[in-house]
Amino acid sequence: MEANAPKRKEARKSLRIKVISMGNAEVGKSCIIKRYCEKRFVPKYLATIGIDYGVTKVQVRDREIKVNIFDMAGHPFFYEVRQTQLWAPRHRAALSLHVSVAFSICQLSSASLWGLDMQSTLCLNEIDCTKHRSVDESEGRLWAESRGFLYFETSAQTGEGINEMFQTFYSAIIDLCDNGGKRPPSSMGVGFTKEQADAIRRIRNSKDSWDMLGVKPGATRDEVNKAYRKLAVLLHPDKCVAPGSEDAFKAVVNARTALLKNIK
Ligand code: GTP
Ligand code: MG
Repeated sequence: MEANAPKRKEARKSLRIKVISMGNAEVGKSCIIKRYCEKRFVPKYLATIGIDYGVTKVQVRDREIKVNIFDMAGHPFFYEVRQTQLWAPRHRAALSLHVSVAFSICQLSSASLWGLDMQSTLCLNEIDCTKHRSVDESEGRLWAESRGFLYFETSAQTGEGINEMFQTFYSAIIDLCDNGGKRPPSSMGVGFTKEQADAIRRIRNSKDSWDMLGVKPGATRDEVNKAYRKLAVLLHPDKCVAPGSEDAFKAVVNARTALLKNIK
């Protein structure tokens, strides 16, 4: 009994994690992994054929983690190859399948097509290319956090955000593991509701002030004020911590002011 104790302790400390890169072709999945493992950046695009595999060891808190990295090709041609990994049985020594995702800063909309799981990390890459940027940080963060994903912005070219992303990802997995596979209470809930997230998204995408307040063109002062009050309560910065809520709140205030100016 006594003699087995250190061994059991050792086994508890060692963990194997499987990281899978997912996302459209050419968004920088392989470059993120190369930057992380080899500390270098390759500007030339070399499409991944099928799946590339690599291993590395990291120390996170008191745990030694063996990381198996599966870098998947994003091209649709490799759909079936990808499925073999996504549905592969959980590794016997591993906690389970965990998915790390990379999307370019212009392609957030395609993220939902990749069927992400509960431990997904959404990574918006190429933040060094600001002129191509079409998704801002609060939009990306809102998208990810409202689905329970970790969110990071990275550049494989400069290295910004890459180590931090992997370390936070591993820490989250260790917490999950220590909590018997359930999310620890501290990471449960994102601190904002679906209604708040939906309202922010709707406000961002609205075409005019009427649309922003959710009233019909030609609505009365009372209707405008009623709609405004409802949104103000929902999104007031003192009450709402959802990414983008401050901007959404300001937009609603401005929309109300603009509409009331023209309503008798
Ligand atoms: P597939 O293997 O086809 O799925 O593509 P991938 O997602 O692995 O893309 P890859 O990592 O090969 O990178 C595609 C192109 O984007 C390459 O030309 C990279 O040099 C470039 N790239 C990747 N990350 C960055 C980045 O952070 N900044 C800049 N400027 N370019 C990047
Ligand atoms: Mg690749």
